[in-house]
Amino acid sequence: MSSAILEKARLSDTPLLPVVGRDLAAPLIQGGSTRYVNLDYAASAPAVEEVAAHLSEVLPYYASVHRGAGFASQVSTSLYENARHAVADFVGARTDDAVVFTRNTTDSLNLLAGCVESLLAERGRTAGTSHGHGEVLYLDIEHHANLLPWQALPHRSVVAGHSVASTLHRVETQLRAGNVVLLAVTGASNVTGEVLPIAELASLAHRHGARIVVDAAQLAPHRRLHIARDGIDYVAFSGHKLYAPFGAGVLVGRPDWLDDGRPHLAGGGAVKDVRLESVRWTKGPARHEAGSPNVLGAATLAKATQVLAALDPDEWHAHEQELRARLVAGLEALPGVTVHQLFSDSASHPRCGTIGVVNFSVQGYDAGLAAAYLSAEHGVGVRDGRFCAHPLLRRLGLASGSLRASFGVGSRREDADRLVSGVAALVNEGLGWDYVVDAGRWVPANDSRGYPEWAPNTPGTAGAAPCSTD
Ligand code: ALA
Repeated sequence: MSSAILEKARLSDTPLLPVVGRDLAAPLIQGGSTRYVNLDYAASAPAVEEVAAHLSEVLPYYASVHRGAGFASQVSTSLYENARHAVADFVGARTDDAVVFTRNTTDSLNLLAGCVESLLAERGRTAGTSHGHGEVLYLDIEHHANLLPWQALPHRSVVAGHSVASTLHRVETQLRAGNVVLLAVTGASNVTGEVLPIAELASLAHRHGARIVVDAAQLAPHRRLHIARDGIDYVAFSGHKLYAPFGAGVLVGRPDWLDDGRPHLAGGGAVKDVRLESVRWTKGPARHEAGSPNVLGAATLAKATQVLAALDPDEWHAHEQELRARLVAGLEALPGVTVHQLFSDSASHPRCGTIGVVNFSVQGYDAGLAAAYLSAEHGVGVRDGRFCAHPLLRRLGLASGSLRASFGVGSRREDADRLVSGVAALVNEGLGWDYVVDAGRWVPANDSRGYPEWAPNTPGTAGAAPCSTD
């Protein structure tokens, strides 16, 4: 083996960064337990240990932000405000970009949608008419977070092509035909992991007088962003996918629309002055951050950006690509297993490629059943369903759902191998247990596995949250 290959092999044999829960034991339905293999990072990634340690370090100082004269309040305020700088550095922001803390990507995009609605209304008032003052353009491959907020505004949508090149062409055609003020696009598909050419899309949008917002919920945990360099006007992502699962997300971008837009939440902290029947809203990030801020969420999100920024980009990329290649090759070698992709040219396009997300189906098995089997019989956690991206799943011919394995800095080669051997056992030997549908989800029949006492194994709750199978 060449030294370059040996070096690559070494990379994925161990995690790139230690994560909390890396030695969690998962009980097996046929008895005993095994190390839990978390291949569901794209839904919610585990905390990086350094991020969790930072939480413990700052927790004693936890106090009110912007509201107290005490020492702990002052430290908490500094922690919160300095978190904006770390995030701005991580995304390569312009000096005047606003960094607004939110709950998650969905919240960030809804916030921006409110500002775009205000912008269109203002244009209408100036022109004296109520329509035709601009629209938002989005693709059919979007996660619902980057589709539903725009569906509620004047909009046009475009069906992505079968290649990156044809998709760019289709977007340009729509930009030329419409009066688009904002192009809303994902940085990487949460379904297939394919990366979009965001710098090229930004340049197309700008050429036609529009801005661009990138839903980077999936991209940011895998690649460095350079929004100033790439001409990205707004970017949104979530702490819970970026190894900081403490309830914060962020929207970063040009301040003018945000300063003039409808405040995202009405309440304390977002105002200059309030009378009994009127209000003067403040400008800057605080305009959209009413209520007591999530200082611990912001601080841990910022810490995660610093930890990721310190990674060697080549090592990060090599770790991920080797794991992905191993997983795809292992799955594609199995009869009846199909790996799904959107674009024929995403691997060869110089600015696209893929992140650590692999979407697949196993012939003869409902995706939810295969996912329940992998969990119960192999201790492997994957996501199944329609991934909150219904238009895309329908177009891929996967209206009833598929399976998704996703990974990141805490993953290692053995994780990929455990999934492949679990799927191989399904294909070759079939199910080893009976499964039933309970509250809309496949679960093992007569499941008596012990859960922690603070989260008991309660029949009937498996599919209670609609997005778990959606
Ligand atoms: N958007 C997250 C996912 O794709 C929840 O799983």
